Amino acid sequence: MKRTIIITGGAGFIGSHVVRLMVNKYPDYKIINLDKLTYAGNLANLKDIEDKPNYRFVKMDICDFEGVLKLMQEEKVDGIIHLAAESHVDRSIKDPFTFAQTNVMGTLSLLQAAKAAWNGDWEGKRFYHISTDEVYGALEMTHPEGIEPPFTTKASSGEHHLAYGEKFFTEDLKYQPHSPYSAAKASSDHFVRAFHDTFGLPTIVTNCSNNYGPYQFPEKLIPLFINNIRHRKPLPVYGKGENVRDWLYVEDHARAIDLIFHKGKIAETYNIGGFNEWKNIDIIKVLINTVDRLLGRPEGSDMDLITYVTDRAGHDLRYAIDSSKLQRELGWEPSLQFEEGIEKTVRWYLDNQDWMDNVTSGDYLKYYEDMYSGR
Ligand code: NAD
Ligand code: TYD
Repeated sequence: MKRTIIITGGAGFIGSHVVRLMVNKYPDYKIINLDKLTYAGNLANLKDIEDKPNYRFVKMDICDFEGVLKLMQEEKVDGIIHLAAESHVDRSIKDPFTFAQTNVMGTLSLLQAAKAAWNGDWEGKRFYHISTDEVYGALEMTHPEGIEPPFTTKASSGEHHLAYGEKFFTEDLKYQPHSPYSAAKASSDHFVRAFHDTFGLPTIVTNCSNNYGPYQFPEKLIPLFINNIRHRKPLPVYGKGENVRDWLYVEDHARAIDLIFHKGKIAETYNIGGFNEWKNIDIIKVLINTVDRLLGRPEGSDMDLITYVTDRAGHDLRYAIDSSKLQRELGWEPSLQFEEGIEKTVRWYLDNQDWMDNVTSGDYLKYYEDMYSGR
């Protein structure tokens, strides 16, 4: 079957992996990457597929309702995979307006455009909204030393795999966002579900845990720290480094998105996660050891770069996803052990210093300097 799909935010971190997967896997589909190219959008992320005949890039703001509607009508778009967003919690603390504008109003504009373009003919149509586990708020850390979680997956057999509490984010949990980022994502999720319930728009929502892998903008923990270790720059650890995140390799997320887009049930929510909880400080030590080893330095020799700084305001303590619904119903599971994923990721950043230098110049550097001045 031929399809024409808009992927919003396709020049960003996760979006570029989804675009690459779909363009390569479905030569009969037309994949339209709709992206405004903010600081986080980078067409260099897609160099390897930019000349493919089934790929088109359109520079557009998702808030441009008329533009999106026209594009949908002209291209006879039958699917939207919506990833475009402002995505960094620290930026949302500094500038919440942009987050409300893009994440809430932008999503609403896309929903309205899809509703108008499809005009009640929902057959074969799909509006798939990508969201985050952060909408559920924070979990308690009832077992600071870690316990075996009640799940088994390929990725969970790694020796570091522990759960730091009995509770996990399940699809039926109430939303309790704490940061302006997660509040804006939560609001957009509600709008998506409201468009299904009110108008019948065929929607799906997924909420995923923290992603890591190639092409992630180096304001997020893993690429920022890899780059700092390489250049022997301080590693700003928020608070005591005890916060827990559940990490998933980005290509596993992209595979889940492909599966859910094609096989997921309309109006459903699926949580996506790696059953892979890590305290920040433990991950940072693995990063230091891995970078040191790959650069031929004595392992652990850069531990003195760890610099404890003022905690992030409202810093959520623990995220942990229960993705057993997705495993049970659609047979998805993470493919990589965390140790393999981290090794691949560190290698990729060390091998792609040009990419890193490019995105850490100009605008970003200024932002970064402003952000950490005084720390
Ligand atoms: P990112 O910041 O790397 O990329 C966002 C992309 O959206 C960029 O290409 C940017 O140019 C584009 N964009 C921003 N505003 C836009 C606008 N107004 N119009 C059009 N394009 C715009 O983000 P990411 O980490 O790839 O996250 C993608 C999605 O996945 C987001 O919706 C995010 O909430 C969600 N998510 C991310 C993670 C994670 O760990 N990164 C985890 C779960 C969910
Ligand atoms: P981040 O990559 O920003 O993702 P999120 O806030 O969406 O989970 O941060 C991951 C964790 O690392 C989070 O607990 C905050 C922490 N962190 C630091 O300690 N120092 C940093 O410089 C950054 C960017 C994050």
